[in-house]
Amino acid sequence: MCGIVGYIGNKNTKEILLEGLKELEYRGYDSAGIAVLQGENFESFKAVGKLVNLEEKTKNFVTQNFAVGIGHTRWATHGKPTELNAHPHLGESSYVVHNGIIENYAELKKELMREGVTFLSQTDTEVIVHQFEKNLKTHATPFEAFSQTIKELKGAYAILLVTKSKSDSIFFAKHGSPMIIGKNSENEKYFASSDTPLIGHCSDVNYFEDGDFGYVNLSEIVIVDKEGSKKQPHFSKLSTNKLSAQKDGFRFFMEKEIYEQSVVIADTLMGRLSESAVLFDELDTSLFNGINEIKLCACGTSYHSALSASYLFERYAKIKTSVEVASEFRYRQPIMTKDTLFVVISQSGETADTLETLKMAKEAGLKTLVICNVDNSSMVRLADASILTRAGIEKGVASTKAFATQVTVFWMLTLFVAKLKNSLASGEIARQIALLREIPSSVKVTDSMHEKIKRLSKRYLHGHGFFFIGRDIFYPLALEGALKLKEISYLHAEGYPSGEMKHGPIALADPELFTIALLPQYLLYEKAKSNVEELSARDSTICVISAIEFDKADDFIQISACRDYMLEFFEMMVVVQLLSLEISIRLGNDVDMPRNLAKSVTVE
Ligand code: AGP
Repeated sequence: MCGIVGYIGNKNTKEILLEGLKELEYRGYDSAGIAVLQGENFESFKAVGKLVNLEEKTKNFVTQNFAVGIGHTRWATHGKPTELNAHPHLGESSYVVHNGIIENYAELKKELMREGVTFLSQTDTEVIVHQFEKNLKTHATPFEAFSQTIKELKGAYAILLVTKSKSDSIFFAKHGSPMIIGKNSENEKYFASSDTPLIGHCSDVNYFEDGDFGYVNLSEIVIVDKEGSKKQPHFSKLSTNKLSAQKDGFRFFMEKEIYEQSVVIADTLMGRLSESAVLFDELDTSLFNGINEIKLCACGTSYHSALSASYLFERYAKIKTSVEVASEFRYRQPIMTKDTLFVVISQSGETADTLETLKMAKEAGLKTLVICNVDNSSMVRLADASILTRAGIEKGVASTKAFATQVTVFWMLTLFVAKLKNSLASGEIARQIALLREIPSSVKVTDSMHEKIKRLSKRYLHGHGFFFIGRDIFYPLALEGALKLKEISYLHAEGYPSGEMKHGPIALADPELFTIALLPQYLLYEKAKSNVEELSARDSTICVISAIEFDKADDFIQISACRDYMLEFFEMMVVVQLLSLEISIRLGNDVDMPRNLAKSVTVE
């Protein structure tokens, strides 16, 4: 998601900021900008799209002597990815960059506008700089004005602010979003939202804690903690390995991405929920006019999220929904009627088979929507409407956080359509919105859970195959669990509906057949349990994932007692992802780049 950099020193500030932003590209962004203060002169540049566009805009801008500078890569949340919404945001004589969300921005903005302040962007960030300049008028020093501003902000943030009123310094604040300061023997100071931009420039770094704020210049690092007391920075040595810094200490990107799911799902939900409704600013409700059916089309993991969505759309939005594998759909001369909303789902937005079906739907005159993780991808450009999943760049070839955010978007979209069609009582919509807010905590990986899975993974390295089984929406999750395992362990695995095992596959049951059974407490528990018992009676080796203890299993992974089957879905999703990860690691495979697979499949 968004990235922040800052620099104080005598070197080429522009280049340092642009290089730093490049190091943060892996987080994903859709616009970028920098602001540099040299003496009394401020220069700021912003560009939509990739950093080359910003480089192009700044090519005649030269920085040689002492300067302070801040930079930002933005992943749009409040307001579209436009130049005006890109950071840094300007007040009268100050600039700010910010990651996170200012929850009370609407109130602050209302008051500032009443006092005559003009806002240029739709972002929550812009209130910070105006509020600071307002406080500047009534406080003795810029730092007092900044401290007051921080007190007035609610939400999560990492903030850098530069101002002509103290032109040798950068003001900073950190609460809930990452922020680091680095230093070196030349007395330069660097800020960034992760280690990577600082590697090669700084020898030592200090990781700010939530609630820390202050200012930094060539000779001072002033930090105040959340209690209001001054504190000393705690510098530690910075690693010199960029790749491992990008992995944040995790063994593989896939592992990091599994752990990130809580944060990216919170980003997916951000600004899209009120107490009683799901808000998709990017959707015009006329998209649903005259629509009697939804057709979902995708490949691989995205197909599994689509299959999950079909259960939700029919159950809650009461709309007929069908799901298609794109590579099949494109050649089977399908009947397409104009009362069908054609929805493609793709992490990359470039998958050739899915893209082709989108073209077919457009040619047939259907309304189209894409659920995608990459803005400006081919599918986003082609479809009538798009919803971005906001998972950030996914590096592991085996998709994890992209899937999690796709299902989150689908659940939200179901409630959005249900409200439009009046197919669900308002109390039930509100109840489910409250559940949506719980997903980020449901997908948090606990040490005990991870340790348990690490330990039991050693029992699942051989055998003649795996069946992941589940009923209802847990069937697509079983498919996804099996796909994850296949992709990175190269072991044979199938996802199957629990109730179908007795119609054939049960013939394979023996101790060398591993069954991973998804047993949600709140959805068809008794039925699914009987199916597992049938396998247990035939001596299959069984690992049950459930909130309820199950004594006929060889292994049992307990999830927490959630309030709803959808939260069980998300918790079990993490379990099957970790299980695949740990089995693959034990087998010595390259988890992030499994053999024969590519991240974006742009061929048929
Ligand atoms: C997921 O782990 C896969 N690597 C793969 O199945 C992927 O989901 C599929 O190729 C579709 O990609 P897309 O979401 O980018 O369209």
